[in-house]
Amino acid sequence: MASGANVVLDDVPSLDLMTELLRRMKCASKPDKRLILIGPPGSGKGTQSPIIKDEYCLCHLATGDMLRAAVAAKTPLGIKAKEAMDKGDLVSDDLVVGIIDEAIKRPSCQKGFILDGFPRTSIQAEKLDEMLAKQGTKIDKVLNFAIDDAILEERITGRWIHPLSGRTYHTKFAPPKVPGIDDVSGEPLIQRKDDTVEVLKSRLESFHRQTEPVIDYYTKKGVVAQLHAEKPPNEVTIQVQKALL
Ligand code: AP5
Repeated sequence: MASGANVVLDDVPSLDLMTELLRRMKCASKPDKRLILIGPPGSGKGTQSPIIKDEYCLCHLATGDMLRAAVAAKTPLGIKAKEAMDKGDLVSDDLVVGIIDEAIKRPSCQKGFILDGFPRTSIQAEKLDEMLAKQGTKIDKVLNFAIDDAILEERITGRWIHPLSGRTYHTKFAPPKVPGIDDVSGEPLIQRKDDTVEVLKSRLESFHRQTEPVIDYYTKKGVVAQLHAEKPPNEVTIQVQKALL
């Protein structure tokens, strides 16, 4: 009798298997990379992440997405996180550090990872470095999505998301082909509950007070690359590629 894993593979169409095989062969030649994307809400981290993920075969760990999934599933973690998230506050360091500690052990993170939205406090940064030191690794690069606060309100309030893939659209800057519909899957797009002008104010306040010190922390380690995140998305992609050479 076939094992459980074989039964699952038997059901996967050959074309999908071949595509995955080719992807893994391409990935084998890529250097390992452990990256942090840091920047205020709406600075473009979620827009650039899928591009970097595909280029370097990394896993994309977005703590905001992971927490929103836990809230939607009403897990014990999600119930604890919901109140802080609805107000635009940060959830506790211990909760988020636990999520990341688990996630970076996934097989999909074998070539490295993109941390998007983590670390967001100096304590999280220190704990992350301790975790990595235990594995004999460290952060290779921190991409700082530097941008003026004044630009962010329009970006955040016009954002639409395909929750399953993480693809991000904008009514003005990156509209989908059909309004409200994901270009690839044809599924509906959603708007985030915290993407309002009022909640953005507290998210920005948390960023300046709690997350900017993380940029100083990694600047002292000499691994921060500054991006001009106010530029159009394709220009930011070029800046990212140069920073990761
Ligand atoms: P999280 O989901 O991480 O939200 P965030 O940091 O506020 O970041 P965003 O996802 O809003 O911004 P983005 O930079 O990804 O923008 P995007 O590319 O989509 O966190 C949510 C909450 O979870 C937190 O408030 C907190 O409560 C909790 N949390 C998460 N991590 C935590 C942690 N480590 N510790 C504690 N709590 C934590 O772009 C925005 C829009 O602009 C899009 O519509 C896009 O199309 C458009 N756009 C993007 N780039 C450009 C460009 N270059 N030009 C024009 N438009 C652009």
